[in-house]
Amino acid sequence: MEKFNKNTLDKRKPQHLYVQLFNLIRDIIIRGELKDHYKLPPIRSLAGRLEVNNSTVVNAYRLLEKEGYVYKKIGSGTFVSPRLEYDNEDVILEKYPAKDDLKLMDQGQIQIRKDMISFASATPTPDLFPVEAFKVLLNEVLDRDKGEVFGYQESQGYFPLRESLTKYLKNYNIETKPENVQIISGAQQGIDVIAKALVEYNDRVIVESPTYTGAIGTFRSRGAQIISIPILEDGIDIKKLEESVRVNKPKLIYLMPNFQNPTGYSYSLEKKKKILEIAKKYNVLIVEDDYLSDLVFNKKENGTLKSLDKDGLVIYIKSFSKIFMPGLRLGFLVMPPRVYHKILRAKHTSDISTSGLNQRVFDLYLRRDIWRDHIHHMEKIYKIRFEVMCKSISKYFSESGLEYNIPNGGLNFWFKLPEGLNSDDIYDKAVKKNVLIIPGNIFFPIVNENSYFRLSIAAVYPEQIEEGIRILANIIKGYNKEHIRDSYTPLL
Ligand SMILES: Cc1ncc(COP(=O)(O)O)c(C=O)c1O
Repeated sequence: MEKFNKNTLDKRKPQHLYVQLFNLIRDIIIRGELKDHYKLPPIRSLAGRLEVNNSTVVNAYRLLEKEGYVYKKIGSGTFVSPRLEYDNEDVILEKYPAKDDLKLMDQGQIQIRKDMISFASATPTPDLFPVEAFKVLLNEVLDRDKGEVFGYQESQGYFPLRESLTKYLKNYNIETKPENVQIISGAQQGIDVIAKALVEYNDRVIVESPTYTGAIGTFRSRGAQIISIPILEDGIDIKKLEESVRVNKPKLIYLMPNFQNPTGYSYSLEKKKKILEIAKKYNVLIVEDDYLSDLVFNKKENGTLKSLDKDGLVIYIKSFSKIFMPGLRLGFLVMPPRVYHKILRAKHTSDISTSGLNQRVFDLYLRRDIWRDHIHHMEKIYKIRFEVMCKSISKYFSESGLEYNIPNGGLNFWFKLPEGLNSDDIYDKAVKKNVLIIPGNIFFPIVNENSYFRLSIAAVYPEQIEEGIRILANIIKGYNKEHIRDSYTPLL
């Protein structure tokens, strides 16, 4: 801030001067260039240097304080707020600018050419959507309910569907009532509605690191401070979680206990129980995002936290996008009674209600048990891909220096590159060979972490998988050699 002078702010810009100043100081703080508790220049002296009114600096400091970047001590001045100290990951940092297509990925999308082998998408290809079966039920609903279908629907959801879901949940050992079910337009909306209902400005939200990017974006959009706790192969690091909950008193803990996105890791039963104990001890709500627990390939424990929740601490989100049709925009929440009214209000202000037509058709899927057949069908298709993937990985990746863990189910595989290799570079090289991966960086909410990547089997056909993995293995081996050659210069 020493360099600030009369040219620092641009008086010709339409943006208010105090907002420009706020942005400048905020960015300096975010970049870590000002130490915790650093005293900002007094108002009058900074205003003098910038040649602006005192009120410009006052307003900028006020905004910085409101956003939690600085704090005031009466009579002493304004100071940089300490970062959330727990471990290195609990630091709010923006990511480095990425390449154009990686930036697109940060926004949750990427352009995929038709001829590509895409391990990037975790969404089923359209040929897997049960269009014909859906058409029959759709017509039946239209004949039965006529115009009713297209009126505004009850915000909480079509009652018969909530009833069917309550029955369906019994198969997963979740006991609930239609009153506690909230229909949502996809899990992403579920996260958004929960955030809108419960997260206030500057509240802290704990997430796994790495985690689902859509959740990070949503919590950030509410002004939440994100605290990330590393996930291990058997679930989140419990010691760090408990310590962080104790110190940071978060509003929510957002978790994916089964086939976590992006790692594919699943929590052990022991950890699931321990998390509920922590939630009870510190009275924190957990958001359980169950986007995929239906796809189990190696039979292991995959119960939900919700099925173990005796104290009403878990808000359960269920999506059907990965095993049904993402474009339907359909999912549901199971809510503990204490959040019921807030969530209902937030859903109403989001989109009033989820499509009545889709809800009615899905209700018939459940009532007629067509759903079970559909799940079995999807399981069969994905199991073939899963097995080809496992074989290809063991054939081509075993010598590559990659670290990985074969998941028990789900669609995602997570890899750590050997020391010194960068997943953005692997991404670039792979794209040139028509193979698409997702660099792990986008899944880390806080740190810039370049040594991981995610492969998903949702949108690759079995015959593409082996070829794609072979290409990736060659890139990694070649890159390894290139890297080693580049980094050693004999001093002769
Ligand atoms: C973990 C997780 N939660 C939620 C979503 C969003 O799902 P939906 O299509 O139901 O909104 C996704 C989509 O990829 C996801 O991976």
